[in-house]
This record gives sequence, structure tokens and C-alpha cells, in this order.
Amino acid sequence: MKIQTPYYFIDEEKLLVNLDKINYIKKHSNAKFVLALKCFSTWSVFDLMSKYMDGTTSSSLYEAKLGHEKFGKEVHSYSVAYPREEILELKKFADKIIFNSISQLNIFYKDVKGLNLGLRVNPNISHSHFDLADPARKYSRLGVINKKDIMDNINKIKGLMFHFNCENDNVDNLEKSFNYIGKKYGNILKRLDWISFGGGIYFTKQGYNVTKFCKILKDFSQKYAVQIYLEPGESSITNSAELVTTVLDITHNKKDIAIIDASMEAHMLDLLIYNTPAKIETNKKNKYEYIVAGRSCLAGDVFGTYKFKKPLKVGDNIVISDAAGYTMVKKNWFNGLPMPSIVVKRLNGKIELIRSFEYKDFVNNLS
Ligand SMILES: Cc1ncc(COP(=O)(O)O)c(C=O)c1O
Repeated sequence: MKIQTPYYFIDEEKLLVNLDKINYIKKHSNAKFVLALKCFSTWSVFDLMSKYMDGTTSSSLYEAKLGHEKFGKEVHSYSVAYPREEILELKKFADKIIFNSISQLNIFYKDVKGLNLGLRVNPNISHSHFDLADPARKYSRLGVINKKDIMDNINKIKGLMFHFNCENDNVDNLEKSFNYIGKKYGNILKRLDWISFGGGIYFTKQGYNVTKFCKILKDFSQKYAVQIYLEPGESSITNSAELVTTVLDITHNKKDIAIIDASMEAHMLDLLIYNTPAKIETNKKNKYEYIVAGRSCLAGDVFGTYKFKKPLKVGDNIVISDAAGYTMVKKNWFNGLPMPSIVVKRLNGKIELIRSFEYKDFVNNLS
């Protein structure tokens, strides 16, 4: 089947590699896993994911609703700040409502009293390569800092959520953080049912010490008698999708430049935000070097510089890997560029064109 580029290509078999790892960790640690929809919410593969994961976690009413309708199982709801309308809607179906501050908890307590409530905590420690994504950054608004505030409200809540990692692939560092949290909040945890350690733990990275990770999780939950939740986004979908593109033009300005029919700004925005080159599988020993660039008007719409085996020509395909996390959820209509279609390769090998977009979608995006 020839599919018009650009398109996101999700391979369920590759997704399964991550899901199998999640299944293993669940079995050996008793932790529960909820998918962070902020990272990935392409619901056409939720039937597969929901067989392995315990539910979803969200950042807004719309995400929570999507989790409820398309994924099922547990719906965790968190928001940096809720308006009342969202709370009234969420309380109809959310299994847990997590507040970001004591003030929000108290504003809405009369609306949600008796439900399974939680508070996000800022433990003042973090592991992040970027200040922009550091939940413990200076003046962070993410979570309650003062322990006494939590204690004063302990009877209203059943759990705490900590999210303090970003792509943390170091299990020893994680162990230290868990020990720190256990020591600092242990007396509070003993009065609660659950703790979420958020996302940002890169347990699907090759070589990650999963056995040690399981032990750390199990020991912690036993010591404090709490159910542990993890909220993986990136780790659930690592390496499961590609953005397939076509070279539209080759130009030259001191270097050869291949312009493809996609855009970093419109279709892989996170890479632009974090100034990270796209992953394109090439070999440094190859001879033909090109800057691969997007077709938007942004001067810096550049995916990176890569070496190819043969000279590139118009019509060649360029495949960008690891294109699932924080990409499809952030795609936008900048420059009115065609939106990449969504294609899924099912476990049985069948390739399905799930969704393609047209001019009407661009028009309907605004009015
Ligand atoms: C509260 C919370 N949970 C989970 C995640 C998912 O993180 P990741 O995709 O790095 O696993 C995030 C990411 O920002 C988050 O803020």
C-alpha cells in the first residue's frame, strides 16, 4: 500500500516491547501503571495498551474524558489549576482527582468530598536535563512544598503525587530519590492509600536495570504500605513510531540541504523547544552529508545534519524515528502545512490508514 507522506507510522509490535516490559515490572513490583496522555494520546492503539496498563492520567478535563472513553480502566485526573466546571464534570467519572495546591483542594472540597483525592507534592528535588521541564525549578508552581500543609489536610486525601523526573535513566539516582521521599514523607504516607511517582523514569531504555527498579518499588510499597503508581508517557511508547517524509527539494548554501514535506515546528515541536536533533538512522561513516530541513517558513526549521549512503534526490523517503512522544499531541497547523496522516501497523501485520487530514480540517481549526 502506497501512502501519501507525511505520515506518523505506529508499529504495534514495537509498542509491545515497551508494554511487555511494563507487564514484567507490574508483576515483580506490584506497582500500577497509568499512561500519561499528555505525552501520547493516539487512541487508535489504546485497545492494545489498555491490556497492559491500568488506566490513564491526565492534565485536563478533555484528556481525562479521552482516557475514560477510549482507554477505560482507572482515570487519574490532575491539573495545575481546575476551573469549577471541570471539577463538576470530572467527579462523574474520575477515579482519582489530584490537586496541585492546598488552595484548590479547599476551594473544591465541598464538591468532591468523599472521592479519592490526592495532592501533588514538590519534594524540592528533581532530575531533569532542562530547566524548562524541571518541576523543582526556582519559583516552581507545581505541587505543595510545605509538609505541614499536607499534614493539616491529611483527612481529606488518600494519596500523593510526585513528579520529579525527566528521562531519568539512572536507577541508582532514582533509589536515592525514593529513599529521600520515604524519609521526608514516610509519616504522611503511612496514613494514605497510594503514592504516584509520576513519569520521567526511562525504564524502557536499553540496559536499564529493571530488576533493581522492581525491587526498589516493591520495598517502598511494603515499607510504607501504599499502592505505588507510575505515570509513564515517554517510556510507554519509546521507539514505537516514525514520521515518514519525502524530500521535496535539494538546495545548497555552503552545505547541501534536503527539504522534506514535514516541519519540525508543526510536526515535531518538542524537538524545537528542547533544541534536540531528530533521530534519523544514518551512519557517521557515510559520505553524503545533508542538512535535513522542514518546509515551514521558520528559518530554524531544521531537523539536523546527517550523512547518507547515497546522494539524496527529490522523491526519496526520509524516516524520523521515535516520533510518538510529545509529537502527535503537539502537532499544529502552522503555515497551513498538510497534517501528517496516522498509520498503524497492527500486531497481525495489517497496515491501516487510520486518519488523514484535509483542507477542511485546517479551516475548522479556526474560524
Ligand atoms: C505529572 C506528570 N506525570 C507524568 C508525566 C509523563 O512524563 P514522561 O513522559 O517523561 O514519562 C509528566 C510529564 O511532564 C507529568 O508532568
